[in-house]
Amino acid sequence: MKKVLITGGASGLGLALAKYYAAQNWSVCIADIQDEVGKKIAEQLSQEHNTDCFFEHLDVTDESQWASLQNTVASRWQGLDALINNAGVASSGDIDAIELKDFKWTMDINVMGVVNGCHYFTPLLKKSQGNLINVASMAGLLHMSGMSAYNTSKAAVVALSETLYSELAPYDVKVSVLCPAFFKTNLTDTMRSTNASGTIVASKLMAKSAVSADDIAKKVYDDSSRGRFMILTHKTEKNFWLLKRFMPGLYFRIIKNTAKKFNAKMSGKPA
Ligand SMILES: NC(=O)c1ccc[n+]([C@@H]2O[C@H](COP(=O)([O-])OP(=O)(O)OC[C@H]3O[C@@H](n4cnc5c(N)ncnc54)[C@H](O)[C@@H]3O)[C@@H](O)[C@H]2O)c1
Repeated sequence: MKKVLITGGASGLGLALAKYYAAQNWSVCIADIQDEVGKKIAEQLSQEHNTDCFFEHLDVTDESQWASLQNTVASRWQGLDALINNAGVASSGDIDAIELKDFKWTMDINVMGVVNGCHYFTPLLKKSQGNLINVASMAGLLHMSGMSAYNTSKAAVVALSETLYSELAPYDVKVSVLCPAFFKTNLTDTMRSTNASGTIVASKLMAKSAVSADDIAKKVYDDSSRGRFMILTHKTEKNFWLLKRFMPGLYFRIIKNTAKKFNAKMSGKPA
């Protein structure tokens, strides 16, 4: 039976991934800061699928908790086939308005949380020739205005993943990075914004997304098992990324005009 560790597995995409992997007969460790709900999900999955699913409290920013989780996984499972660094938070606000403590909070969880996971679990993945899957975002490839902290954090996750793609190739560890656009989860519940409109816009975009967390979980499973590096789940945003790569002049004109229109709309003045 294969084994996967999923950070942030108590909600949203992490929960969808936990359910999908358990349904494929994998044992799942859900590591999250939400103890009560995380334990309940792990128990349910164990019973439903007769697999060894368990919950461990983990704040991804805490190195000592990562070290202890590494010991737990190594002794309970004697190995690990996949690590999904999924836990993340969102923030928004213009650079001169965002609280720097919120910028650091975003970087700590979204970047150092992933770095910690890669650092502590790469040794087990080298032994199993397993899969390392980092959850970034389209925000790691396309950087819209008013989102500097989130964009910077997710671009760092893309850079880290690309580095490890080649660094771990000699050990046959397959590295993937997931870059979805908006989909419905609980991400805006904890989002830190300098104004309410940032959270409202994000919530609306998430609510009207045609792509669900379950769709993404299935694609992550399929694409990573084929060893695909970049996992892209949203067609329109994928095309926009291709525009950035192949027609950057047009792309930059569009994002500049979009930012001007957005600011004008928010301030009630003409663009
Ligand atoms: N929902 C979207 O539109 C969207 C789009 C692109 C990327 N993502 C990314 O998907 C990932 C999952 O987010 P989601 O949308 O499912 O949101 P979510 O809020 O539903 O789930 C995030 C989970 O991470 C956990 N978490 C937060 N801080 C943590 C910490 N310090 N240590 C451990 N766990 C922590 C939360 O408790 C929660 O269970 C994130 O990395 C997010 O940036 C989401």
